[in-house]
Amino acid sequence: MKQFLANKQILLGVTGGIAAYKSADLVRRLREVGAEVRVVMTDHAKEFITPLTMQAVSGNPVHEDLFDLKAEAAMGHIELARWADAILVAPATADFMARLLKGEANDLLTTLCLAAKAPIALAPAMNQGMWKNTLTQNNVQALREKGIHILGPSEGSQACGDVGPGRMLEPLDIVDRLAQIFVSGSLAGKHVVITAGPTHEAIDPVRFISNASSGKMGYALAEAAVEAGARVTLISGPVSLSKPARMKVIDVVSAQDMFAAVMAEMQECDIFLSVAAVADYRCKTTASQKIAKTAEKLTLELERNPDILANVAKLSPRPFVIGFAAETEDLEKKAQAKLMNKNLDMIIANQVGEGVGIGSEENAVTVLWKDGKQEFAKMSKQKLARELIKFIGSFFNKIN
Ligand code: PMT
Repeated sequence: MKQFLANKQILLGVTGGIAAYKSADLVRRLREVGAEVRVVMTDHAKEFITPLTMQAVSGNPVHEDLFDLKAEAAMGHIELARWADAILVAPATADFMARLLKGEANDLLTTLCLAAKAPIALAPAMNQGMWKNTLTQNNVQALREKGIHILGPSEGSQACGDVGPGRMLEPLDIVDRLAQIFVSGSLAGKHVVITAGPTHEAIDPVRFISNASSGKMGYALAEAAVEAGARVTLISGPVSLSKPARMKVIDVVSAQDMFAAVMAEMQECDIFLSVAAVADYRCKTTASQKIAKTAEKLTLELERNPDILANVAKLSPRPFVIGFAAETEDLEKKAQAKLMNKNLDMIIANQVGEGVGIGSEENAVTVLWKDGKQEFAKMSKQKLARELIKFIGSFFNKIN
C-alpha cells in the first residue's frame, strides 16, 4: 500500500500538540516510501518542535508565516497549495479542526487548506475528554461529510496521564492510511494496456531512426492506472527510465515488435492507451554490417510501419481505444482528424513546444471525443497522468 506514496508531494501541517514530537519521524517515514515532504508549522507547533528539526528531516525550508515576504517570493502560498498532492495535518488539534470547519484563513495552514484542491487528511491528537466532547465529535463528523479524511486517533495512555481515545496514530500507521487515499479504485479489476516511449527502426547494427519520446508520459499513466486499481501491461520502446513495479512490462525495440506485443495482449483488454511515439516508417532493408562512409550521398528507402492504434480499433470485440496526438501546429484540428480516421473512442491532443510534450517533465493536453472536449493545463506528467486516469476511469465507467 505504501508504494502509492512514491513521488507524491505531501504538505505536512504541524499544529500545537504534544504529539508534534512524532511529526519529525512521520516526515522520515514519508520520505522512506518516496514522498517529497514540505512542512508548514503553526505558531503553537513551534512550542513543541523546532522548524530547524523539521527542515533537517524534510530537506526543504519550513513554511511558517502567511506574510513572510522571503518565503512568498520563493514559493508563494497559492503555489504551495497547488504543489501538494495531499495535505496531511499531524497532529491536528481540536482547535485546528474547529477553525478548518469554519473556513477560517487566519494563518498559513488554514489558508493553504482552503486554497488547495488536493485531498486533506487530519490525524487528530488531543486529550481523551476533548476528543469525546460532543462539540469535537460534531466537528469531526462535519469534516468527514466535507470529504476530509480523519486518520485515527488511537486509544491508550496520554501525555497528561489520562487513558482513552485521542492519541495520534503512530507515524507508520499514518503513512499506511494516507496511502489508501491514493488508491482511487476507479479502474479496479480492469486490464489496461499502455504503449510508451519511442521505437527504434534499424538502419544497420549501430544506427537507427527514432524520435525524442522519453516514455515519461506513458510510464506516469501506467503508474496512475495501477493506483486506480487496474491490472496494467506496459509495452515500452527503448527508454532510460527505471522499470516500474506492480505491472507487467514488455520491452520492445521496433514498431513491428510493438505491434506484435500489443496484439498478443488484446484478448482481455478493457482500455488501450497508445502513448508511444511509434515510427511511421522503417528502412526497407537493414544493412547487416555497419554502413561505411564511402559514398557522397546515401539514400534510405523507407516503408510504412503498421498503424498499431488503427489496428486495435478494428478489432471486434475491441477495448476502449485512446490515442495520443503530438502536434506542433493545428493541434485540435489534426487530433480530431486522427480521432475520426482511426475510429478511436478518445484522443489526447498533446501540444509540443518549449517545456511541454515530448521529452519534457511537464505536459498540457486537450482530451477530445466524439461530442466533447476537456482541457488539462500545464502540470507535471505525474500529476497530469493521475488527472487523466481519473477522467478516463469515470468516462469509461459511465458508458459501461
Ligand atoms: O514520451 P514523452 O517524452 O513523455 O512524450 C509523450 C508524447 C508526447 C510522445 C505522448 O504524449 C504523445 O503525444 N504520443 C503520441 C505521439 C504521436 O505523435 O503520435 P502520432 O500522431 O504519430 O500517432 C497518433 C497515435 O497513433 C498515437 O497514439 C500513436 O501511439 C499511434 N500510432 C502511430 C503510428 C503507428 N505506426 N502506430 C500507432 O499506434
